[in-house]
Amino acid sequence: MRFSAPVLAFTVPFLMGGCTTAGPADTARSIAPILTTEQARDEFTYAQPTEARVTHVALDLDLDFEARRVQGTATLDVTAAPGADEIVLDSNGLLIGGITDGRGNALGYTIGESVPDKGEPIIVELGDSGGASSRKIVISYASGPDAPALQWLDPEQTAGGEYPFVFSQGQAILNRSWIPTQDSPGIRQTWEARITAPRPLTVVMSGIRQGQPTDVGGGRRAFEFAMDNNIPPYLIAVAAGNLEFADLGPRSGVWAEPEVLPAARQELGDTEQLIEAGESLFGDYRWGRYDMIVLPPSFPYGGMENPTLTFLTPTFIAGDRSNNGLIAHELAHSWSGNLTTYATWRDGWLNEGVTSYIESRITEEVYGKPRAEQEYALSYAALANAVEENGADNPNTAMRSPAAISPFDTVGEAIYDKGTVFLRTVENIVGRERFDAWLTQWFDAHAFQPVTSEMFLADMRANLIDGDSDLEDRLMLDEWVYGTGIPSNAWQPEATAFAAVDDAVAAYARAGTLPATRTWEGWTAAEQRRFLEELPEDLDDTDLAAMDRQLGLSRSGNNEVLFLWLQAALRNEYDPAVPQAEAFLARVGRNKFVEPLFRALWATGDWGRPVATRIYARTRGGYHSFTRGRVDAVLGYEGAGG
Ligand code: BES
Ligand code: ZN
Repeated sequence: MRFSAPVLAFTVPFLMGGCTTAGPADTARSIAPILTTEQARDEFTYAQPTEARVTHVALDLDLDFEARRVQGTATLDVTAAPGADEIVLDSNGLLIGGITDGRGNALGYTIGESVPDKGEPIIVELGDSGGASSRKIVISYASGPDAPALQWLDPEQTAGGEYPFVFSQGQAILNRSWIPTQDSPGIRQTWEARITAPRPLTVVMSGIRQGQPTDVGGGRRAFEFAMDNNIPPYLIAVAAGNLEFADLGPRSGVWAEPEVLPAARQELGDTEQLIEAGESLFGDYRWGRYDMIVLPPSFPYGGMENPTLTFLTPTFIAGDRSNNGLIAHELAHSWSGNLTTYATWRDGWLNEGVTSYIESRITEEVYGKPRAEQEYALSYAALANAVEENGADNPNTAMRSPAAISPFDTVGEAIYDKGTVFLRTVENIVGRERFDAWLTQWFDAHAFQPVTSEMFLADMRANLIDGDSDLEDRLMLDEWVYGTGIPSNAWQPEATAFAAVDDAVAAYARAGTLPATRTWEGWTAAEQRRFLEELPEDLDDTDLAAMDRQLGLSRSGNNEVLFLWLQAALRNEYDPAVPQAEAFLARVGRNKFVEPLFRALWATGDWGRPVATRIYARTRGGYHSFTRGRVDAVLGYEGAGG
């Protein structure tokens, strides 16, 4: 294996107080605090940040599409406590070529034993710092085979079919498979990067681009980026492919393959309005640009809130902006999640629940109250269903996860939907104006810092409740955050939000009467989803055939609607849906769709299991490692989890 000699990106910095001076703009960077409370302890990192911590990451990497790995150096700024003689980094399969100090002197290191998902520690001896608390270490490395953060795509997996593509997904603990740093959301770092790729590929990252790409010979170009805000390292992201850019507004735009760009640009036409709505509610957008990239369909999520560059599934494109709740959601993370970030994976609701709430507020501003009320009703119903299925006393229905669970394995509804319902409840008890002022204050006070549930509640008590014991009782805060089920004060969705649809659901259940084709076509996507979600569990072939004929479900241009149709059809062993499902599962890699469809097939037993096995044999290779791990577990696939 070839390792490039460590290249020093900067001169050795002057080390003063708690600050380092280095980096492209040579600006002094402030160092984000480390929380030391019990609630902030992350069991999924090897790092010992109170001993020695990373404050800045400088990557100098080549994207090697042949070998399917990244390779180069990471130069880390490290701040160490007096007397600390080593720093512990996280790795997942990284191949280390050597580690030096800032002057090129070799440093000793050991690599510990590997644990599934968590990976292995790299323990680096810090050597003699000459008394300084800060110094640099330079790691020459390559990502290991099958690094789970990176998906390398063959040309056939892209829209254009001509060029390869790669993208990273850092959340939850995947970035340690391509970046040797302290991979914990409570250890915030600034970063910069220089990434090379073969022509004509374009590299994009979750930071601000620095200048134009430069030729580096061998048919390659180098692209430079910087992120001067302290961010949790799971938010460092890269993608490269045959990409073009379209402006959407003064600070926003979209990257996509040329084949996808026109539709993407059209679907994202409301972006500037969405940003303005977010700002009017919860304060300035603090990241400079808000760009998005529409990825190939194997991207395993709907969206990922990488700062300055949201990553999106192409499956959200419906032609009518009806799935733009996704954009409101990822944008909302610019406040909740990216500005204030959970210190540990057990506080998932602080990122995702608060974001779902802000998503609904932005939706209300831009798309109006009826649409926001409908989305709230869908959230409430999803929460109520999850609580019913799991049991109201199931610990997995608590927002703050009671035990150390895998960062990937949380009951979604207890985080996303319960978070929304909680904050809606508080908003309605204290009044919108007062609540918004408090939430804005919360983001300001903890901007670019890690937070915990106990900090959120303490801040609410200090700055919102302010000693009002009657209000304290009415809010039931601890029950919401630490308790299971749905607290009794939960704000109810408006009964009228889906009045027409709920009547249609009742008519179908009572007499088998379907909505007229024209009625169905006049419904919003949320209304169509509501209808499909409320259908009776058991439907026979005649029911399903009539439904598809009258409502055109299998031809829906909205993938959320198409998915719900396929789920209902497969659950009921409807043969004509098998080729439709096969086509969908070959075209879409988003886990939210893929996993439940395989589950539905599997749950039927003799009817669906051979079908699932046959389809999966064909589609598995195209799925992202995350989706693959989830479906492997459903089908009991050999080597499940890998
Ligand atoms: N940050 C999440 C995705 C995520 C969560 C990745 C946890 C890994 C671990 C993202 O913001 C998200 O919530 N995406 C949703 C969007 C939906 C709720 C609108 C998705 O992908 O479906
Ligand atoms: Zn989210």
